[in-house]
Amino acid sequence: MIKPSEFARRRRELMALMAKDSIAIITAAPERTRSRDTLYRYRQDSDFYYLTGFDEPESVLVLIPGRRQGQFVMFCRDRDRAREIWDGYRAGPQGACEIYGADDAFPINDIDEILPGLIEGRERVYYAVGKDQNFDRQLMEWVKAIRARARAGAIPPAEFVDLDHLLHEMRLFKSPGELKVMGKSARIAARAHSRAMQVCKPGMFEYQLQAEIEHEFAMAGSDFPAYSSIVGGGANGCILHYIENRAPLQDGDLVLIDAGCEYQYYASDITRTFPVNGKFSPEQKVLYNIVLQAQYAAIAAARAGNHWEQPHEATVKVITEGLVDAGLLKGKVADLIRDGAYKDFYMHRAGHWLGMDVHDVGDYKVDHHWRLLEPGMVMTIEPGIYVSPDNTRVAKKWRGIGIRIEDNVAITRKGTEILTADVPKTIDDIEALMRG
Ligand code: GLY
Ligand code: MN
Ligand code: MN
Repeated sequence: MIKPSEFARRRRELMALMAKDSIAIITAAPERTRSRDTLYRYRQDSDFYYLTGFDEPESVLVLIPGRRQGQFVMFCRDRDRAREIWDGYRAGPQGACEIYGADDAFPINDIDEILPGLIEGRERVYYAVGKDQNFDRQLMEWVKAIRARARAGAIPPAEFVDLDHLLHEMRLFKSPGELKVMGKSARIAARAHSRAMQVCKPGMFEYQLQAEIEHEFAMAGSDFPAYSSIVGGGANGCILHYIENRAPLQDGDLVLIDAGCEYQYYASDITRTFPVNGKFSPEQKVLYNIVLQAQYAAIAAARAGNHWEQPHEATVKVITEGLVDAGLLKGKVADLIRDGAYKDFYMHRAGHWLGMDVHDVGDYKVDHHWRLLEPGMVMTIEPGIYVSPDNTRVAKKWRGIGIRIEDNVAITRKGTEILTADVPKTIDDIEALMRG
C-alpha cells in the first residue's frame, strides 16, 4: 500500500518544482459508459491518483504552492445519502480533508464560483494541456471570469504550462514503496503465467487460458488486468495485439500469452510463449532460444549508466545473428541490421517504461539523446520473433511461429532486479513445469 505520507511527499515535491506564484489543476478520470446505462468499472486517472490516493470520479485537485490558507485543495462530490445507497460511499469535502489530508475541500458543484478566485493572481497555470477538450474549454471559461473583473483589479494568469513534464519525470522514478507494490503486482502475474502453463492442454480455447490467468489476478486482490490479456495460439501469436482469444489451441502449436495485472494501481506486464502440448518442436526450439538469448542480452544491457536504446540494440543484434544462422535471413549481419531486414520478424521495440500505466510516462530522450538509465526506473524487456504464416521467403516449417518473452526489470544501484523472475522461461524449465 502506498502510505498517506508518500502521497503528501509527492505533492510537496511537485510544488517545489513549480514556479513561484503558480497553480496546478488536475482532473479525475471521467466515468465511461459501457452500454446504455451500465458503466465500465471506474479507474482513477494515474496522475490524479499519484498525487492524492483519491479514487472518486468528478473530482479536481488544485495545488497552490505558498497559499497561506492551504496549498492542497480538492473539489469532489458531496455526500448524498440516496446516491450512496445505490453506488457506495463518498468521502465528501469533509472526508477529503480528514481522510486524504486536503487543506481545503469544496463540493464539485461549486467549482465555477470558487476556482476562478484561486487562479486569480497566479501568474502561471500548470495543467495537462490538450488532454481533455472539455477541461481546456472549462479552464478558459474560468479565465474569462477573471478577465471580466479586470477593471475591479482582478489579474488573470499570463502563462499556461503543460504539467506532464514535471509530474511524469517524478513518476518515472519509483520509490521504495512503489517498488514494493510493483514487486507484488509482478509476483501475482508470474503466478498466473505458471498456472496457465500447468493447466494448458490441446483442445482448450484461448479464452480458457485467459480465464485461468485472470482468475489468479482476481484471487490475489488485483482489481483489473493492466491491459486486455493477449492469448494467441499458433499463428495468432504473430498478431501483436491479438485480444480476440476465441480460437482452440492446437496440438503442436505454441501459445503466446501477454498478460499482467494491475495491483493497487501498479501494472505488471509479462509475456511467455510455450508449447500447447508441453514439448517444443525442433523449429520452435531454434527460434525460442534466439529470443531468449536476445532477452538475456538486453537484460545485461539494462543497467544504470547505459542509455535507453542499448537493450534494444542488443536484441536487434542477437535476433539478426540468430535468424542468419537459422537461415531465415540471408546476408551480412551488419548490412541486415543497417537495412532493418530483421523488422520482417521483429517489428517492435525491446520495451517501455512500466508503472501505474502499462506503457508508463516518462521521456525516452533528453535533449534529443537517448536518456541514461538510472536507479528507480522500471522497464519491460520483451524481444520477439514473429514469422508471418504467409511469409513465402522462408521455409514452410518456420511459418506461423510467434514468440515473445517479456519480463519487468527495475534498475537498481547494483544492477537490475527482475521483478517477474518467478515464472520459468528456459525450454527445460517450461517443459518441466508442464510435465507437472
Ligand atoms: N502488452 C503490451 C506490451 O507488452 O507492451
Ligand atoms: Mn506485454
Ligand atoms: Mn510490454
